[in-house]
Amino acid sequence: MGVVACVEDLRKQMQRRVPRMFYDYCESGSWTESTFEANETDLQAIKFRQRVAIDVSERSTAMKMLGQDVPMPVALAPTGLTGMQHADGEILAAQAAEAFGVPFTLSTMSICSIEDVAANTSKPFWFQLYVMRDRNFIRNLVERAKAANCSALMITLDLQIMGQRHKDIRNGLSAPPKLTLRNIANLATKPSWCLGMLGTKRRQFRNIVGHVEGVKDMSSLANWTTSQFDPRLSWEDVAEIRRMWDGKVILKGILDAEDAKQAVNVGADVIVVSNHGGRQLDGAASSIAALPAIVDAVGDKTEVWMDGGIRTGQDVLRAVALGARGTLIGRAFLYGLGAGGRAGVTRVLEILHKELDLTMALCGRSNLSEVDDTILLK
Ligand code: GLV
Repeated sequence: MGVVACVEDLRKQMQRRVPRMFYDYCESGSWTESTFEANETDLQAIKFRQRVAIDVSERSTAMKMLGQDVPMPVALAPTGLTGMQHADGEILAAQAAEAFGVPFTLSTMSICSIEDVAANTSKPFWFQLYVMRDRNFIRNLVERAKAANCSALMITLDLQIMGQRHKDIRNGLSAPPKLTLRNIANLATKPSWCLGMLGTKRRQFRNIVGHVEGVKDMSSLANWTTSQFDPRLSWEDVAEIRRMWDGKVILKGILDAEDAKQAVNVGADVIVVSNHGGRQLDGAASSIAALPAIVDAVGDKTEVWMDGGIRTGQDVLRAVALGARGTLIGRAFLYGLGAGGRAGVTRVLEILHKELDLTMALCGRSNLSEVDDTILLK
């Protein structure tokens, strides 16, 4: 991987190593990408108060997420097509997360299946569910997650209809990629990615293909989503799915305090303040801007986390200062994965941890329980 000082270094390496269509899939927002960009720029605009002559010799960034001890309040977000950023990507990312002690979430839209990840890890991971029209398939996915010993179910609420990402249309995104002349020309410049893919049998959406009747080829994610995802999803449906799962439930994709209250009513153990990485409603608030009102509305009733725009340990601290008790990283870990597989993901976690620890110390705090908005400039 060469010298890597920050997550941005890994993003550049990923861009060189991964075929354009998958790099672009990761690195896009919907329409004008204004929300995608605001997620990062609104975080960066939050300034810290530098404090001095405070003993910070004994520090810890440990926290609890969903009752689980974590070395820092960061979990890997569910991301679609992860196994297209690197061969066996979901397995490698789950292994890196497990070794570091942070949770991993497997997406419904993953390349490696629930069973693939379970067979190659030793601790429970979390499973993310999209609600499909075919409720038998939902039931089946939930049962498979239970059988794989998944320790939480994360239901994503903000993608019953898929936002349009212009780059995916222009690139003709599909998994596996179609062998058009343009794709072949691009793949020819990505030899180590191609070698990896030739060495694995996991090249299509293995949670789905073979499990839903009539679905053999899901080459177009957008068409697949339109035909399978259920745009009628209601809070009653969410409550019903919640009842299928005996354990902890995380509801992701909440950006409004009214919705946060509904989420609490249906029994959310955690709410993730999220705009899906700016990939859904372009023009919506950044996640960090939406966070404080949601913490105010339901923070005493449920755990509130956030995702969107986290690229540094400083961003994790900003989110914690504004009331998040956990964060999810999507793109940040994909950069590491695309750049260097499992070692790349480990590097991302190490970088975030170091940046978080250092920033906390320079703000004069030794522990995340001492962190609130008094560390920020008003
Ligand atoms: C799917 O979750 C996507 O954002 O593409």
